[in-house]
Amino acid sequence: MGSSSKMNLNELKGLAEVAARQAGDFLNQSKSEKKQVYKEEGRDIKLIIDQDTEKLIRASLQAKDIPILGEEYGGEIADEKYWVIDPIDGTANYFRGLDECCISIALMEGVEALIGVIYNFNNNQMYTAVKDHGAFLNNKKISVSDIASKNKASITTGFPASETIESSMNFLENLKGWKKVRMFGSAALSCAYVASGKCDYYAEKGIFLWDFAAGICLVKEAGGNITYSLIDKDRYEVIASNGLI
Ligand code: IPD
Repeated sequence: MGSSSKMNLNELKGLAEVAARQAGDFLNQSKSEKKQVYKEEGRDIKLIIDQDTEKLIRASLQAKDIPILGEEYGGEIADEKYWVIDPIDGTANYFRGLDECCISIALMEGVEALIGVIYNFNNNQMYTAVKDHGAFLNNKKISVSDIASKNKASITTGFPASETIESSMNFLENLKGWKKVRMFGSAALSCAYVASGKCDYYAEKGIFLWDFAAGICLVKEAGGNITYSLIDKDRYEVIASNGLI
């Protein structure tokens, strides 16, 4: 029996929070340094500091015997507990000095989300949730908004990764009728914004599990709905809402 078997979910959430804060300190300290790109593919950009940050988070979590799936160094979805890490969600924003980026750490069991930690190190906003124990921003309970009509609501989204005429037209069609449309460039923060009532709806096609895994627990524990389905080998369509729209 490994050491994680002795830790309850609240303790594991504490561990993820410490890992996220350490990683956030590192990313804040490194902001003014020149950032090395190691891969650019389509709209995706990958930085050496994504890798360095994931190593740091893995080192903090690895003391426990829970397998890890991370954006940079891979891993597997498992039936038993496993961590899902995005060392920087919103890498392009971090690269360009925009503050819409965060560290995202989830604990999953199969497809069930047990813990979600999303840390925007730029403004010290720590979103946390544990299954059946509510969702919090900097230790204050949060809940989804109570806005029930689209014409009063804010949607957050991302432009679809595949740019066919059809996908672009569908995308535009789905933006009709909302009061406000926002594109933050971070799926994890978009989920955190729905969970904390700053936005009312989030929809995006073509994102990876590590982009939204922590958001699953946060949105559910804040009283919202979140659905996700695989649209190809490893990309998902995700819809999160306050449950009223
Ligand atoms: C990106 C963000 C963004 C989404 C992109 C993702 P990354 O994640 O989540 O919101 O639109 O598709 O790749 O690469 O910065 O971790």
